[in-house]
Amino acid sequence: MSEASKHLVKFSDVSKKFGVVSALDKVSFEIGHGEFVFITGPSGAGKTTILKLILAELLPDSGKVEVGGVNTGNLKESETPLFRQKIGVVFQDFKVLMERTVAENVEVALAVIGLPEKEWSERVKHVLKLVGLTKQTNLFPAQLSGGELQRVSLARALVVNPMILLADEPTGNLDWETSDSVMELFEKINKEGKTVIMATHNKEIVKKHQKRVIHIVGGKISKT
Ligand SMILES: Nc1ncnc2c1ncn2[C@@H]1O[C@H](COP(=O)(O)OP(=O)(O)OP(=O)(O)O)[C@@H](O)[C@H]1O
Ligand SMILES: [Mg+2]
Repeated sequence: MSEASKHLVKFSDVSKKFGVVSALDKVSFEIGHGEFVFITGPSGAGKTTILKLILAELLPDSGKVEVGGVNTGNLKESETPLFRQKIGVVFQDFKVLMERTVAENVEVALAVIGLPEKEWSERVKHVLKLVGLTKQTNLFPAQLSGGELQRVSLARALVVNPMILLADEPTGNLDWETSDSVMELFEKINKEGKTVIMATHNKEIVKKHQKRVIHIVGGKISKT
């Protein structure tokens, strides 16, 4: 493995401003392969900004963001889609397509990467089993609970076998019991080797899961 890819994610003195707002101020950290890391901090702290920088949806004003040995500041526009395929993302509001079935929602991700259609059904079946949605395969989102919807979005993120799974407040719209089972699923996925980076301000979840925490306050890393 090259020196550059020893860490899966590396922030070196990363700063990002929006107008006069300093969203991140000289933030540095490293995340290794297979880690499960919480990014915590109050609303407006800069958590989502960190995730967007990892995805290269944003670029730093100064400093360097490296993901899998790639400096996002050096990505050409033509390289961005392939780069993003290596990162699965799950959001608070699920972002599922309401007019498509569970299986079809997952297939969309495979269509995007151009996987031949004959290989879809096996991949979809496998990932839906992983997230516990085999019975729901042919249902529509309107027929599912919040926890099940989050499992659909997890399945869609995982089906392309990304290097990293990013989650932005994945339990923000779920009640405690449902959050708990979704978190168990994230734990299981991490135990199988996937690197998980999760932004949350849910202190109960962070306390229960005992993972490494990067705590951000006002755009700076702070002690918890
Ligand atoms: N596109 C943008 N334009 C202007 N300001 C922005 C933009 N994105 C983020 N900000 C500002 O940057 C700061 C950090 O925002 P960010 O979304 O990263 O916070 P967060 O920690 O994810 O908060 P929350 O817990 O509410 O999701 C905030 O002050 C926010 O208003
Ligand atoms: Mg946020």
